[in-house]
Amino acid sequence: MKWTRRETLGGGLAALSAAGMPTFAATRSYTLRPEPIMASVGGMRQELLGFNGSWPGPELRAGQGDHMRVRVENGLQDGVLVHWHGLRLPNRMDGVSVLTQDVIPPDASHDYRFPVPDAGTFWYHSHYLSYDQVSRGLFGPLIIDEQQPPDVDHDITVQLFDMLTDDSGVYDEDTGAEQFAATGRIGNVMTAIVSRETVQRGDRVRLRLINPSIDRVYSLRINGIEGKIVALDGMPLEQPQPFEDIILAPGQRCDVIGDVSDAIAFADDDIGQTLGQIAAQGQRQRRTTAIPALPPNPMPQPKGREVKARLVMQGGAGGGKHDGFGTWALNDVSGLPREPLLNVRRGTTARISLYNATAFDHVMHLHGHHFWENSETGQPGDYRDGTFVRAGEARDILCVLDNPGNWMLHCHMLSHQADGMATWIRVA
Ligand code: C2O
Ligand code: CU
Repeated sequence: MKWTRRETLGGGLAALSAAGMPTFAATRSYTLRPEPIMASVGGMRQELLGFNGSWPGPELRAGQGDHMRVRVENGLQDGVLVHWHGLRLPNRMDGVSVLTQDVIPPDASHDYRFPVPDAGTFWYHSHYLSYDQVSRGLFGPLIIDEQQPPDVDHDITVQLFDMLTDDSGVYDEDTGAEQFAATGRIGNVMTAIVSRETVQRGDRVRLRLINPSIDRVYSLRINGIEGKIVALDGMPLEQPQPFEDIILAPGQRCDVIGDVSDAIAFADDDIGQTLGQIAAQGQRQRRTTAIPALPPNPMPQPKGREVKARLVMQGGAGGGKHDGFGTWALNDVSGLPREPLLNVRRGTTARISLYNATAFDHVMHLHGHHFWENSETGQPGDYRDGTFVRAGEARDILCVLDNPGNWMLHCHMLSHQADGMATWIRVA
């Protein structure tokens, strides 16, 4: 491995462990160098982008309560920014042009430093021309370990990625206007990139599923394990939930803990295609204990009067009219509006009523915070950072805006974002 990792004791920085005992926070230092690379995808050698020579980028890891320091050294011919998707971090570390920092020019470097308050499955990716840079490979997993991790034999990262290639099997440079105005750039080479090749029957494993694909929604079926969903978008469920197909829209994550019965196969049920496998070798005695719930992350609690906002998704082919210039719009504006959707004091609880007035599905992602998806009965549902809203659907999300700064709220189908589907929120 080319990337460096040093662990040092932070200068007397104390964090509280889950048990309430003070522990010393470590500082985890990494260097990420975005650069052009050659990688083999779909059986072809391709000119793509990677971090530190690897495609996708290396797995970054830290413990809950640690401080991370990541130096980004831009080895591209173009600008770059790195966003730490799903982390509640200081606004100026969020990696978003216009709202939080300038683009890092070629040959320049930039230091990101932030504490990591939540354990879970997160990821990082380019947030500059991201529909292009992410589709070429500028993404990687970011894993924050619990102070007391669950009892499993293997902790496995699974990235579901698709790439669009042309007739000769080479990365397709062209994204047509029709793609931007419809489902986006849906790849024809689909892979599940797994961090481990083999398991034993009887092993208990944790699968960290991540969808870094720019536009594709997966209907994921997992064969060969009997288990439950324990977290969504990094955040633990109170009770592990049984599952059949897992819908994973761009940017979303899902953690599963389960016992291996056979080779683990990842398939997309919509198109009936296997995306990847983990082979099973040998056999061991299975655990008899139930699938454990993960320890909760510290969550802000909604309080006080709710501030309300409405956000209508518009545009695209076949309807969804709006006044903005681009293909896609939110509340009649295409691209970042001059004024934020919400301008609130820190600690305000906001209810945002989403309505998808288009003929296509979208996944709305909020930076720097998680929010509750409202269930049909109005009760707070899952706590996530991206919510999948199908064509014609409406949904409320409830969010305690407790992190000061300017935060982007956008469709994580990156072709839609590139073509206007983005807004922002200001927390003062
Ligand atoms: Cu995963 Cu605004 O991004
Ligand atoms: Cu969208």
